[in-house]
Amino acid sequence: MNLTIGPLAETHERSRFSSGVEALDRWFHEQAGQSQRKRRTTVWVATEPSHPTVPLGYYSLAPFHVAFDHAPEALRKKLPPEPLYVALIARLAVATDARGRGLGGLLLIDAAKRALQASLQVPTHGVVVHAKDANAASFYRHYGFLPFPDDTLHLYAVVTEQVDMTLC
Ligand SMILES: CC(C)(COP(=O)(O)OP(=O)(O)OC[C@H]1O[C@@H](n2cnc3c(N)ncnc32)[C@H](O)[C@@H]1OP(=O)(O)O)[C@@H](O)C(=O)NCCC(=O)NCCS
Repeated sequence: MNLTIGPLAETHERSRFSSGVEALDRWFHEQAGQSQRKRRTTVWVATEPSHPTVPLGYYSLAPFHVAFDHAPEALRKKLPPEPLYVALIARLAVATDARGRGLGGLLLIDAAKRALQASLQVPTHGVVVHAKDANAASFYRHYGFLPFPDDTLHLYAVVTEQVDMTLC
């Protein structure tokens, strides 16, 4: 897929986006612009160069923190024993007619790379996602995210420089 991923802009025709998940679509149509303007989240949109106004997928990032004792046990040995500041992938969705062509994976890796770049300036300790259901959680596990012991819909990955290959 020939794609561009860039910040949400006024030119994006947000109302045309449909992932089939009402909460993710409604947020993107109605709240994403304000959320980005108020610096609650940053929002990143994938388009094809031939149709630069038509969103095919998006994700949003926000700051978040996790208590060390809540982190997945297998990751704790890589982490300092203190509150863990992380990037939260608050939402991620692909349009129904663009599914199954690698875009979801591309968005996830792009988000992880962006989190890694930011952490080189201000140190943070990985990426957390809140999956909307077990199927979404399984998508994140496919990329190496590990579930929190007390909530398997919350998952954590420690991002390394080899982010193209693996997330943890
Ligand atoms: C989950 C979602 C983002 C996947 O997007 P997609 O573009 O269809 O997925 P991709 O084509 O990029 O798949 C990439 C890889 O993930 C795998 N994958 C996709 N969905 C998966 C799932 N639910 N469970 C496990 N693996 C999954 C694919 O098999 C593929 O594996 P491969 O690279 O080894 O061949 C998309 O289905 C979606 O937007 N769903 C609705 C919203 C949602 O659930 N968002 C998740 C966060 S709440």
